[in-house]
Amino acid sequence: MTTLDTFKTNDYSKINTKGSFTFSAPSNIALVKYWGKKENQIPANPSLSFTLNNCKTVTTLQYESKAEKNVSFDLLFEGQPKESFRPKIQKYFERIQDLCPYILDYHFTIDTKNTFPHSSGIASSASGMAALSATIIALEKLVNPHQTEDYYLQKTSLLARLGSGSACRSIKGNIVVWGETESIENSSDLFGVEFPYEVHSVFENYQDTILLVDKGEKQVSSTVGHDLMHNHPFAIRRFEQAHENVVKLKAVLKSGNLEQFIALVESEALTLHAMMMTSIPYFILMKPNTLEIINQIWKFRETTNIPICFTLDAGANVHVLYPEMHKTEVQDFIENELSKHCQNQQFIHDEMGFGIQSIVNL
Ligand code: PMV
Repeated sequence: MTTLDTFKTNDYSKINTKGSFTFSAPSNIALVKYWGKKENQIPANPSLSFTLNNCKTVTTLQYESKAEKNVSFDLLFEGQPKESFRPKIQKYFERIQDLCPYILDYHFTIDTKNTFPHSSGIASSASGMAALSATIIALEKLVNPHQTEDYYLQKTSLLARLGSGSACRSIKGNIVVWGETESIENSSDLFGVEFPYEVHSVFENYQDTILLVDKGEKQVSSTVGHDLMHNHPFAIRRFEQAHENVVKLKAVLKSGNLEQFIALVESEALTLHAMMMTSIPYFILMKPNTLEIINQIWKFRETTNIPICFTLDAGANVHVLYPEMHKTEVQDFIENELSKHCQNQQFIHDEMGFGIQSIVNL
């Protein structure tokens, strides 16, 4: 059985040199939502996501060997020092040091940038933690080159999860499941796995336009939101429902029935926000324009019969999902109508992607 111990690297050599790795990692959008966790970033329920392509973080990790054994790093954002990221990265290194003891032998300089606009309000923790974990595993491959490619991929996802839960779904594959559930073979609470079943061609290159409704700081962070699922009056039923929805979505991904797809995806989005509105204390992350956009999407779908739908993450922004064959009409609608309800008319067209990529430093 694969356990956390499977991923402890005890046998490694120290490379007395310096070098660097650069990786990009995308964001992902959950269709079945992860909301609620146990200790050590173990999810309370399974989730399933589409990997994105354009919203990415690119991270370079420079390593230089040193004599003393400790966590040591400098942080840059777009080439400039960024101390505000330090506590999160410090915590990440502390969490992974048992699994990756070799990190204590090096001083790191981490330089990171996002491909999406600076002030867009899009959370970069999924893509950021996935990209950083990819660079750490590149180092592991140097100091311990004896594992299989599958092992390294699973460990990359596992490290990303320890940085930020949903980041573990940004490593490999265009559809990813995270969280052990009966209906998905080899699914695990420890890391994300590529959806291993047949997928209808209508989902190929599925489109996701992210409407930037509110770029301000969220009043309630995801960490606090997850915590409020402990003792939540509807938690147990919600966690069961997520398992059921993975079963349903598995069938829909095979059949390509978009009516059922839409019903499931929109229900998941509203359920996520219903959990926020019914926790104690309660909170609301949607804004008036979130609701305005949802209503416009419903009206557009009814009048045109074009199968677009929405999903939401833990914020006010709306993800508009649609098949590639309807790209022109839907993007016209977004540009002409929905953008009016976005902050500074901002939106980002994205689509399905495949995960981390190594970038060769020139
Ligand atoms: O990965 P976190 O801890 O930021 O939580 C993400 C939670 C949602 O985006 C709301 C749902 C999900 O599955 O991505």
